[in-house]
Amino acid sequence: MKICCIGAGYVGGPTMAMIAYKCPEVTVTVVDVLPEKIDAWNSDDLPVFEPGLDEVVKVARGRNLFFSTDRKKAIKEADIIFVSVGTPTKSYGAGAGRAADMVYVENSAREIAEAAESSKIVVEKSTIPVRTAESLKTVLHANTKPGIRFDVLSNPEFLAEGTAVEDLKDPDRVLVGGEETPEGKKAIETLVSVYANWIPRDSIITTNLWSSELSKLVANAFLAQRISSINSISALCEATGANVDQVAFAIGKDSRIGSKFLKSSVGFGGSCFQKDLLNLVYLCEHFGLPEVAQYWQGVIDINDWQKRRFSSNIATSLFNTVNGKRIAMLGFAFKKDTNDTRESAAIYVGRDLIEEQANLAIYDPKVNKGQIYRELIGEESDQNQQIEVCEDPYQAAQGAHALAILTEWDAFRDLDFQRIFDQMVKPAFVFDGRNILDHSKLREIGFTVQAIGR
Ligand code: NAD
Ligand code: UGA
Repeated sequence: MKICCIGAGYVGGPTMAMIAYKCPEVTVTVVDVLPEKIDAWNSDDLPVFEPGLDEVVKVARGRNLFFSTDRKKAIKEADIIFVSVGTPTKSYGAGAGRAADMVYVENSAREIAEAAESSKIVVEKSTIPVRTAESLKTVLHANTKPGIRFDVLSNPEFLAEGTAVEDLKDPDRVLVGGEETPEGKKAIETLVSVYANWIPRDSIITTNLWSSELSKLVANAFLAQRISSINSISALCEATGANVDQVAFAIGKDSRIGSKFLKSSVGFGGSCFQKDLLNLVYLCEHFGLPEVAQYWQGVIDINDWQKRRFSSNIATSLFNTVNGKRIAMLGFAFKKDTNDTRESAAIYVGRDLIEEQANLAIYDPKVNKGQIYRELIGEESDQNQQIEVCEDPYQAAQGAHALAILTEWDAFRDLDFQRIFDQMVKPAFVFDGRNILDHSKLREIGFTVQAIGR
């Protein structure tokens, strides 16, 4: 069997590496339009940082895992083609700022139709609006040679960044949606047989196409909703003297609520939660359900408010002005164990502080300088007087009025805070946006500590 994956990004690269690793008899080729990305996948410096990924790629690459820019050849030879391209929020025209931009998915379908010389199973791996398979099938069949058949399946990806390898090795479930026709069922079985090489059959769920497509958006919406729920309560905790971590622990002990995804924070980031929620809101409006749209919009609104609340609290606490003050920002990735900064809360907090004329000293163990500049000011310029990207946390803290924790990197827990305190302007403030530090110890050293929900 031959598999091709269009899109060598955060999802395409790791998912295909795992399929190749677990199925040595399947040849897997991942293609991308960006030659530099393919070069990186073929090098020792992979474009995606994920714990354990290097080892998986090392075993399979060159054996049955290949990264290539020759899209036509890979499509032509494949039995199964995964479409794993980006579906960002549309930035223009109708639905701008909310609907998913389907241009890359449609282009992929056109490329498949043009290059295919035999029948294929086409798998939606990207997160897409419900009923996309319909458009995909229309584009595929309208542009291909006679006698060629395309079966479209939905197989959304549920991996989380930072734990991608573990999530792929041992997923809670794999979801495959397809048509309820004999051909559709055969296509579903073919894809299921690939995953069954390492995933127990009862963890592989099969549904109709629309349920599968919609389940992906709903799963992300429910996860994001939990974070906004606990973050909304964090404000109430601050006003009343309750401690949000204690509240989360107490309610999480109820097995109906469960303990996961109740960590209050400076706000959720990442490339998907906001994008998928916006898409869900847009779909609800499209289908004439304004009340449902409004309900899910609330999850986004609370998240935006939480990020703003954090930056304005820094300014208020520093005697109502951060003008000319150095603020050390520790962490820039949207969560620990990833180099991904897309929609990171750090970007919004950083921009707010820049607006207030603060000077930022930023340190993140995995995010490079250029990326930080690009996210904050849209270009790679170290001429910017307000931003300094530092080599280590101590350099960032040197002469700072405040230290703000934006990402929950484990290494931040074990810093030498006495050394940091000694280097800072007094009173020295800590704003713990992730509630990961030992606050009583910091207070003993002399810091003024502010945390989320306490
Ligand atoms: P990404 O931007 O990292 O990767 C997409 C890749 O597709 C890019 O490298 C781009 O160059 C390539 N591409 C675009 N058009 C192409 C074409 N015609 N031919 C070949 N390559 C093309 O995006 P991602 O994070 O991997 O996300 C992909 C999809 O998976 C999105 O729909 C996203 O919502 C979904 N998803 C992402 C995650 C995640 O953790 N990042 C998890 C689950 C689902
Ligand atoms: C999320 C989902 O968890 C995945 O199942 C899904 O496949 C993926 O989106 C996607 O579709 O892209 P991801 O965004 O990689 O994965 O990471 P999460 O662990 O979900 O974290 C998202 C954000 O929420 C991070 O900023 C994180 O710090 C924050 N978060 C998470 C909290 O603030 N509190 C929590 O309790 C959990």
